[in-house]
Amino acid sequence: MTMPSYAVTGASGHLGRLAVQELLARGVPASDIVAVVRSPGKATDLAERGVAVREADYSQPQTLGPALASVDRLLLVSSSHAGQRAVHHSNVIEAAKTAGAARIVYTSILNADDTTNPLAGEHQDTERALHAAGVPFTLLRNGWYTENYTDQLGQYLQRGEILGAAGHGRISAATRQDYATAAAAALLQDKEGNRTYELGGPAFLLAELAQLISEVTATPVTYRDLPVEEYTSWLQETGLDEETAHFVAALDVSIAHGDLETNSQDLARLFGRPATPLTDVVRAWRR
Ligand SMILES: NC(=O)c1ccc[n+]([C@@H]2O[C@H](COP(=O)([O-])OP(=O)(O)OC[C@H]3O[C@@H](n4cnc5c(N)ncnc54)[C@H](OP(=O)(O)O)[C@@H]3O)[C@@H](O)[C@H]2O)c1
Repeated sequence: MTMPSYAVTGASGHLGRLAVQELLARGVPASDIVAVVRSPGKATDLAERGVAVREADYSQPQTLGPALASVDRLLLVSSSHAGQRAVHHSNVIEAAKTAGAARIVYTSILNADDTTNPLAGEHQDTERALHAAGVPFTLLRNGWYTENYTDQLGQYLQRGEILGAAGHGRISAATRQDYATAAAAALLQDKEGNRTYELGGPAFLLAELAQLISEVTATPVTYRDLPVEEYTSWLQETGLDEETAHFVAALDVSIAHGDLETNSQDLARLFGRPATPLTDVVRAWRR
C-alpha cells in the first residue's frame, strides 16, 4: 500500500508552515508532503527539507489542478483576502475534487452554525461548497488565535490598558501552533466520513487577560470596555480607516455575543494534550 500524500495550502503563511512542520515532526516523509504556495520564494525553508513546493494561486483555477495532482489529503488553509475567500476556496475545492483527493480538511470559524461574526459568511459558504462537492471533508472550526492579543502586548503595556467592546464575552483562543497541531492530526486520521471539530482553548475574558499580563509582567494593565461607537472612534484615532475600525469593533460585538467561546474539548482530544495555557504564551513573550 502506498502512503497517502498530503498537501497544505497557504504553506508560506503562519498556520500552513506550522502544519507542514508538524507533519514532518510526526514522521511523515518530506517526499509525501506538497506545500502549495503562490510565491515559492517564501517557502525555500520547506523545499530545503525535501518538501515539494508547488506554485498556485487561489484566484487562478488553472494553476490549482497541477498543484494538487496526486494529492490524497488536502489541508485548505483559508485565504487571507476577506471578500474573495468564498471564490478562492471554491476554486481549490473544485480542483481537489477533479484531482481525485480523498479528503479536504478546511480551516473554518468557531461556531460556524450560528455565529454572528462578520467573517463567518464566507466560511459558511465554503462549508456549503464542501457539502456540495461530495469529497469527504473535515471542518476545523478554529477560534481566535491567541496571537491576535499577544502580538499587541507591547501596546497594552505602553498604554496600561486593553480597550475593547467585548463586554463579558469570553474568548476560547488557542495558539497557531495548537491549531496547526490539530490540523496535522486531522490530516493523519484514517477515519471515514465527514467530521466537524469546534476548536479553541480555555475561555478567558479580556479583563482576565489584562490581569494575567499584569501578574506576569509586574506592570499594571486593565481592560476598559467601551460602547461600540466609542471603541470605533478610538480605533480611528489610532489610525484605522473608518471601514476597518467598524469591522474591528464588530468583531468585539461578536465576542460579546459569545461567538468566540466554546467549551468543546475537540482541540485537546485531537492531539492528546490540553491547549497551550494562556499563562505560558504570555510568559514566553516576556523572554
Ligand atoms: N482564527 C484567527 O484568529 C485568524 C486570524 C487571522 C487569520 N485567520 C485566517 O486563517 C488563515 C491562516 O492564518 P495565518 O495566520 O496563517 O495567515 P497568513 O500568515 O496571512 O497566511 C495566509 C496564507 O494564505 C496564502 N494566500 C493568500 N491568498 C492566496 C492566494 N490568492 N493564493 C494562494 N495562497 C494565498 C498566503 O500566501 P502569501 O504568503 O503569498 O501571502 C499565506 O500563505 C488566514 O488566511 C485567515 O483566513 C484566522
